[in-house]
Amino acid sequence: MNEEIKGRIEKLKKEKDAVILAHYYVDGEVQEIADYVGDSFFLAKKATEIPASVIIFCGVSFMGESAKILNPQKKVVMADQHADCPMAHMIDVDRIREVRRDHPDAAVVCYVNSTAEIKAESDVCVTSSNALKIVKNLPNKEIFFIPDNNLGRYVAKQIPEKKFIFHDGFCHVHKSIHLGEVLKAREAKPNALVLAHPECTEDVLAEADFIGSTSQIIDFATASDQKEFIICTEMGIFYELQLKNPDKKFYSVGHRQFCPNMKRIRLESVVEALENLGPEVELGEKMRLKAALPLQRMLELAK
Ligand code: 13P
Ligand code: SF4
Repeated sequence: MNEEIKGRIEKLKKEKDAVILAHYYVDGEVQEIADYVGDSFFLAKKATEIPASVIIFCGVSFMGESAKILNPQKKVVMADQHADCPMAHMIDVDRIREVRRDHPDAAVVCYVNSTAEIKAESDVCVTSSNALKIVKNLPNKEIFFIPDNNLGRYVAKQIPEKKFIFHDGFCHVHKSIHLGEVLKAREAKPNALVLAHPECTEDVLAEADFIGSTSQIIDFATASDQKEFIICTEMGIFYELQLKNPDKKFYSVGHRQFCPNMKRIRLESVVEALENLGPEVELGEKMRLKAALPLQRMLELAK
């Protein structure tokens, strides 16, 4: 059955001049049929380098929006229209304007896990793989970091010379990884290294041997001489970890490392997206132009 669907996807891709981008959190079988799989920074950047006229996005809305913002001439189609990241909606424009009024010198640093509307109000975007580097190099001494509180605090800890204003956004998946479970996993696997995504809570990050984006976690585990790892991020990452490291062991820390939005994307939805070339990401041109500035600045500063 899957082989038949995979064959259809290959055929449709050629017919429609489409390329499939997928995030590490989607199901392994979807990662398998994608042309490019990566973290949110890689995918945003890759979207600007693709010659095909159609991008099928296997990820959540903000990722597809970023691809469209940076490539207005392309058709960007979501494999599932309803795959959305709740964190992206945890801040509103009024709050940004309020902080700007009270702190006119602060840079509004926007984690890409945000809507196009929020990006349009921000000075620069960051992802978990480049937030540290970009914030460090900004000329501003004051930073309003939105929307993720955990990533913001993680960055702030390493840049004590800057003053941070935080927001209270969070990822429910990473927040549900509890320190107690991490400690239990460590006890059960004493030789394993703990690798965590910076969206995890501060106490979990304090326990981690390595903190990084999904790509950075994969790269670290792949380069490491160690054979066992406790993984504190969404379970979709296990597919690539195991593919690249068949001789290594990866352990989860419970049963809640599951992003229901990423998991909405099925092979069948990819077929439908290819057949219909929809649902397409559509953005008003005025907002798109405003949202493109912080994203382009990110691509520039991350170099
Ligand atoms: P990455 O930037 O590591 O891909 O993370 C995206 C995300 O949604 C994390 O929950
Ligand atoms: Fe959003 Fe968390 Fe899912 Fe990432 S894992 S898409 S931050 S809900």
